[in-house]
Order: sequence, then structure tokens, then C-alpha cells
Amino acid sequence: MPDNLNRRQFVKGATTAAAAAGYVVKTGVALAQDAPSARVRVGVMGLSRGKSLALTFGGRSGVEVACAADVDINRAKAGGAAIEKAGGKAPEVVQDFRRILDNKDIDALVCAAPNHWHAPATILGCAAGKHVYVEKPCSHNPHEGELMIQAARKHNRAVQMGTQRRSSPSITEAMQLLWDGEIGRVYHANSWYGNARGPIGKGLAAPVPDFLQYDQWQGPAPRVAYYDNRIHYNWHWFWHWGNGELGNNGIHALDLCRWGLQVDYPNRVVSAGGRYRFDDDQQTPDTHNVAFEFEGKKSMAWDGMSCNRHRNDFVTFYGEDGAMSIDGGGNCTFYAGATDKVKKEVNGNKGDVEHIENFVAAIRNDKPLDLNQEILSGHKSTLLCHLGNIAHRTGRNLTCSTEDGHIIGDDKAMKLWQREYEPGWEPVV
Ligand SMILES: NC(=O)c1ccc[n+]([C@@H]2O[C@H](COP(=O)([O-])OP(=O)(O)OC[C@H]3O[C@@H](n4cnc5c(N)ncnc54)[C@H](O)[C@@H]3O)[C@@H](O)[C@H]2O)c1
Repeated sequence: MPDNLNRRQFVKGATTAAAAAGYVVKTGVALAQDAPSARVRVGVMGLSRGKSLALTFGGRSGVEVACAADVDINRAKAGGAAIEKAGGKAPEVVQDFRRILDNKDIDALVCAAPNHWHAPATILGCAAGKHVYVEKPCSHNPHEGELMIQAARKHNRAVQMGTQRRSSPSITEAMQLLWDGEIGRVYHANSWYGNARGPIGKGLAAPVPDFLQYDQWQGPAPRVAYYDNRIHYNWHWFWHWGNGELGNNGIHALDLCRWGLQVDYPNRVVSAGGRYRFDDDQQTPDTHNVAFEFEGKKSMAWDGMSCNRHRNDFVTFYGEDGAMSIDGGGNCTFYAGATDKVKKEVNGNKGDVEHIENFVAAIRNDKPLDLNQEILSGHKSTLLCHLGNIAHRTGRNLTCSTEDGHIIGDDKAMKLWQREYEPGWEPVV
């Protein structure tokens, strides 16, 4: 199949390919003819973060990484070699992730491509009958998150977002203690991220490197020229593909805040910050404070410092009778009253293995909703990042519906609820 097929052309082709491969196509969903078995086969899209996910998937009993797909052929090959070395069996190595969708023996798509690909790939994956493990943030914009929930429901697929701390045994135990009243009524959560990132410079238009299929890298995003300072990783700092530090790392912390406070959609969102440290091409803030108010006298905040890691706490909950902090590694500490006196510690890990095991179990048990970070919950947490970024980009305070998070009375802000797509690549459920 040529590299430059758009979504419509691809979907048409995939249906034909699916039929030829022996799929049963029912109500638009291609399902493998085999009944669910103990063996789970996954295909991984994007082999940087995806390489580490692949090794964790491959290390689980009865799980096989059958395909490694990366538009950067060097990364695809390196990922494939690492998977083979760890597991003894070589996966198919491809540049085009659609080979995963076409393969009837693959049960799940693992999407660790850049953010602009998360929702479109998940939606195509569900339509092809695949369960999907999608990295955080689950979407590039709020509308996509809503479409992902629809796709998961329509095709009855397990869709798990990769905020792995949702499966951490220590954090899960600490959350239960929090809800049981260990520090009284909990009313606020604060969270932080710190790093010492350097400048990304001023990029120059450049020829696309031989090893990269740039058209497929762009996929659903409207076409722009190739520049020499955006791929890999720096796409995070351009609104066209990424969601800044808030969507990159803020999501982990805000997801814990939302989980512990037991809240869904905020009614008010404010933002302060900007690109303060370096004069370069980066569009997204390196210094960013966002705050959210919820019904029931609860609030949360995130303080992101991309270029100064002086203070690097993670998450702290404040209650009427104490506080509880979670560090980046999943260790939780309860403090007594309004003091720094340690009352209780629950130490553990951040759930990397458990999160994948939870996803595999949902597939094996045919219980697509039995997930620790099911897409509906993933969307609610991701939406906090989108709303914080929309408040930043419009320079306005946002008032939101507590029913679905939609922005009330601000058409300019609601324009950022969704994006423009490369023609033919609009995600459709
Ligand atoms: N949960 C976590 O702790 C965690 C950690 C790191 C990264 N992530 C997430 O993983 C994602 C990837 O991050 P990264 O740091 O690996 O970024 P990256 O830019 O280094 O790597 C992305 C990879 O995806 C590939 N890719 C792009 N389009 C593709 C396509 N159409 N098909 C196949 N491959 C494609 C790229 O070539 C690249 O190798 C991000 O969304 C990030 O937020 C999550």
C-alpha cells in the first residue's frame, strides 16, 4: 500500500485486506475468527517509548510482540532487535503501522507515536477489531477524546491510557486510605514537574532524512515542511502535534489529583505562564501554572518548570486533618494534622508492569471496561491538560460545564476544542 494513502482510502483498503485475510466483518468491526485465547499478540506503533512498552508486554507470560512499526526505519529495526533479544522471537518490523491493523492474529495495538496520532490510530484500531493501549495524553484535543470513547463503545474494545500510576499497588492503597478519611475531608491537590531542558534552537527547513517516512509521521496533521529541530521528541513543543509540558508530564500528576479528589470535570480553569527561559522555536510554555476548581469545594493546581528543576515534588493532597504526598516513584507519605510529622508510609512502585498486566487481563477475560485507566477516565484527565492549554492560548479564564467539561460562553476558546485535519484524515467513528 502506498505511504501517502489518506484515512478514507486506507479504511477502504483495510476492509478489503481484512476480508482477504479471513476476518469476519460485522457492523463495521473486523474481528479475528479465533475465540479469545490465553495468548495475546500485540503490535507496537512508535519505538521510542514504545520500545520500553514492548519489552514489558513481551515479558508477560503468554504475551507476544508480533509487530514493531515505526516510520523511522532505524528505530523500527532497533526496536525489533531489542524485542527479539529479550523474547527470542523476532517481530515483524515495518514502517507502516497499518500492517498491525491488517494482521488478524494481532489482538491489540500499542500506540506510542506522537500525540497527534493517538486518537486517529486508536479509532482506526478499534474499527479494525483491535484493543488499544494508547499513551498519554490520550488525545491531541478534547473532541478527539470524545471520539475515542465512542469508538471504544461502538466496537466493544478495551482502550487503556498509559498513565501507569493508576495501576500502582502502593498508590491504589494510599488512595483508598485517603477516601477512608486518613487526613479528613480532602479539598485540594497540588502538583509539580521540574526539568532542566535546554533550548531547541531555530530550526531550518531541510530535506526529509532517508530513514523517515515523514508523510506517515504527519498522518492526520495538516502538512508542513520538514524542519531539522522537531523530530524526534521536540514536536511536544509545537501545538500542531503536541500539548506542551502540561500534556507531556502534567497529565501524570493531574490524573493522580483527579483520582484522589474523586472529581470529574472542573467548573473553572485559569492559567499563567509562557516561554520565558529561551528565545527559540518552542511554542508551548516552559513555565506554566494551571489551576482548576470543582464543585464541592475542591481544587487542584499544577506547576510546570521545564527549564529549572530546583523544586521537583510530584503530588500532594491537603485534607482537614493532614496531608498526603506521592513521589514520582509511587511512594506515598501521610502527614499528621497541619504538621510535617510522618503518620504513615505506603511504599511501592509506579505501576509500569501492573498497568500492562491490567490491560492484558481485560483482553483475556473479555472485559473491555475492566481497566484501571479506561478511556473515559483517561479522557477526563487529559481534558484538564487541554483546558489548561486553551486558557493559556486564549489568555482567558474558562468556565466549564461539570457535565462534560465543555467551555461555556466563549466561542474563541471552544474553537480550540478540535483541530483541522489533513484532508481525508479526519477521524470518523
Ligand atoms: N507513560 C509514560 O510514562 C510515557 C513516557 C514517555 C513517553 N510517553 C508518550 O509516548 C509517546 C511517544 O513519546 P516519545 O518520547 O517516544 O516520542 P518520540 O518522538 O521520541 O518517539 C515517537 C516515535 O513514534 C514514531 N512514529 C511517528 N509516527 C508514526 C507512525 N505513523 N507509525 C509508526 N511510528 C510512528 C516516530 O518515528 C518515533 O520513533 C508520547 O505521546 C508520550 O507522551 C509516555
